[in-house]
Amino acid sequence: MARGRSRLRRWVLWLVGIGALVVVGVAGVVAYSWYTAPVDTVGMVAFKQPLALPPLATSTVDADGRRVFDLTAQAGTGELLPGTESETWGFNGAFLGPTLRAERGEVVLVNFHNGLDEATTVHWHGMHLPARMDGGPHQMVDPGRDWSPTWKIDQPAATLWYHPHPHGATRDHVNRGLAGMFILDDPTDPASRALPHAYGVDDIPVIVQDRSFDDSGGLNVGNLGDVVLVNGTYGPFLDVTTKALRLRVLNASAARVYNFGLSDDREFSVVGSDGGLLPEPVTARRLVLSPGERGEIVVRIRPSETVVLRSYEPDLGVNAFARRFDGGKDRFDVLELRAADNLTPSATLPNVLAPAPDLVDGPPDEVKVDRTFTLQGNKINGRSMDMARIDEVVEVNTTEVWQVENTDDTYHNLHVHDVQFQVLTINGDPPPAEYGGWKDTVFLAPGTTARLALRFSDYTDPDHPYMLHCHRLRHEDRGMMAQIVVVKPGQTAGSPPAHGH
Ligand code: C2O
Ligand code: CU
Repeated sequence: MARGRSRLRRWVLWLVGIGALVVVGVAGVVAYSWYTAPVDTVGMVAFKQPLALPPLATSTVDADGRRVFDLTAQAGTGELLPGTESETWGFNGAFLGPTLRAERGEVVLVNFHNGLDEATTVHWHGMHLPARMDGGPHQMVDPGRDWSPTWKIDQPAATLWYHPHPHGATRDHVNRGLAGMFILDDPTDPASRALPHAYGVDDIPVIVQDRSFDDSGGLNVGNLGDVVLVNGTYGPFLDVTTKALRLRVLNASAARVYNFGLSDDREFSVVGSDGGLLPEPVTARRLVLSPGERGEIVVRIRPSETVVLRSYEPDLGVNAFARRFDGGKDRFDVLELRAADNLTPSATLPNVLAPAPDLVDGPPDEVKVDRTFTLQGNKINGRSMDMARIDEVVEVNTTEVWQVENTDDTYHNLHVHDVQFQVLTINGDPPPAEYGGWKDTVFLAPGTTARLALRFSDYTDPDHPYMLHCHRLRHEDRGMMAQIVVVKPGQTAGSPPAHGH
């Protein structure tokens, strides 16, 4: 009896001991990842490499007067981290792609060749164009095949971009290196010429992407990375020769939200957003860009100085746990600006840049449709993307107001193809001034409701849909995407072509 009881006691002690070890172990792992999750490279980056400048894509004008570009997706190797080789993908090169540039009023034709061994697409993010030319998941291009979309540029001067959009694999294809800038000019618009506009001199593409690497330099295709590359350059510096510098900043990252500012906290002017120039320059010390968004800023430079473009901790509006693991505690040194001793004077910034979006300033009866989109759990309105399902039918030339609600406990954003929209309110308030121009992507912290005004014009097609989706690429890949068709008055939706090809 006594012996039985002491054996039982020994067993209980054993179990308690093992249980305690497990608890301590788990707590240790949690604490370790809690404290190591934030990434902070401020003051740690030796800026040793000149910033790579994506070349301007060459083009020809064909017999029909169309501006013709050639773009090939290909595999390669790049030295992304100094001294290591990474297997990469790029357009017309090993990593990223050339900057395409065209003017309002021109017809462009892009001869795309898929030189990869997987099917992909090229989507023109921010572009107003027919759905069949959009390069979404329905315009898949098989390995070795070509695709030649053509459309007329008819929208204001803007910083757009292009990237693959294969359903379920966008994050993978973008992270391997397929992305590039597409700059639109408007020769009839005086403001864009009054801003710094010499490409690579005082008008600089700044494609910001975070990456992570394994020990041998292999590129990991994940969500958040601990290394920030600009135009594919690690630790980049830029020699500045002018008193004003225009940076066209594109967040081409899979999931990361940046909160850009300068290392000495100086003010800069935000002059453009996704769809073009703002109504007027906005003086700011910080600019938040979520994945897919663009911001054009003008920085005033003093002779001989060095100042760093930095990303400060972004306010993601999430709880303390998500804040640490979604990058809310991360800081990065992004790009060092090195001023020459003698700087060329720059024109003063115009006070007025572009007409403000005015979609709902027209007669109120023009607003015909109200739609609500709820973002929750990688679904939009409770549904996951289905390539064969049309989710919304929009009548052409109709002003719509969309209410977009993030009811999730993580952040999302919403990107809409084909249109640039006007942000009416965020949580009932007028949007911040840097959201006062045309937008194609809007950031939504948890619990945020945005109201947008949109108007789809020119192109109708009952069968070929445009996409709307979260631009956190894993969310998009997991189905946080919906399909809309734009139809003529009285027309009903057709059905998307059989998958992909
Ligand atoms: Cu930048 Cu639908 O994508
Ligand atoms: Cu999302």
